[in-house]
Amino acid sequence: MRKTIVAGNWKMNASKESVNSLIKGILSGMSDVSSDVIVCAPFPYLSQVESLIINSDLMLGAQNLNVNLKGAFTGEVSADMIKDFGAQHVIVGHSERRSLYGETSTVVAEKTKAAIDAGLTPLLCVGESLEERESGRTEAVVAEQLNAVISLLGIDAFDGIIIAYEPVWAIGTGLTASPEQAQSVHLFIRKLLADSSERVAQKTPILYGGSMNAGNAADLISCADIDGGLIGGAALKADDFLQICKAG
Ligand code: PGA
Repeated sequence: MRKTIVAGNWKMNASKESVNSLIKGILSGMSDVSSDVIVCAPFPYLSQVESLIINSDLMLGAQNLNVNLKGAFTGEVSADMIKDFGAQHVIVGHSERRSLYGETSTVVAEKTKAAIDAGLTPLLCVGESLEERESGRTEAVVAEQLNAVISLLGIDAFDGIIIAYEPVWAIGTGLTASPEQAQSVHLFIRKLLADSSERVAQKTPILYGGSMNAGNAADLISCADIDGGLIGGAALKADDFLQICKAG
């Protein structure tokens, strides 16, 4: 039985004041939440979140990392630095990084490796664009994105990976995939993993992301192969985020 996981991706939205009230708001409602809950904060706020969540069940993640361990990479942040601030998770391969920063599936696989090597759990995002969906390439795109990681790291690496299926056309658009659309891709992902290892396929959490909100979360998370959500916009309001956390 896979545990429900709800992760908030704040993207580039935060201030010291908003982080303080958002985390306090989430913590005040955590007692009735049975899902695992992660907040992925922008780098400058990791330390603040780390102090606020001490002695709570809330977990911390980052939104990106560099593939290198350390050195002359101005402006970059390593997996060890992220860990140093108490984070256990890091998002890799978000579609915004793939499309706006040119991260290929090979780079995403290398980042996944850097995260795992440092002891972080990657939240590995995959998903197709609208054009790819409309031309019937959803499964091929998702398979290419996952196979890059499987070929670099091997299937057993997925013991330490959380997958997030995020159709690009649903991210930040208010257009959520229907539970049937999402479940069908989640099942495809699980079958792809099962081609290499049935054990890994049954164990790996696969979250849905893309305009998940308090109103649609329960229907999505109740699907057989949807194990939780990666939440953008609705993760910025404590009440909305908590409702999603309770939907699992
Ligand atoms: P959204 O973002 O919930 O605002 O659509 C999800 C994500 O990009 O992870």
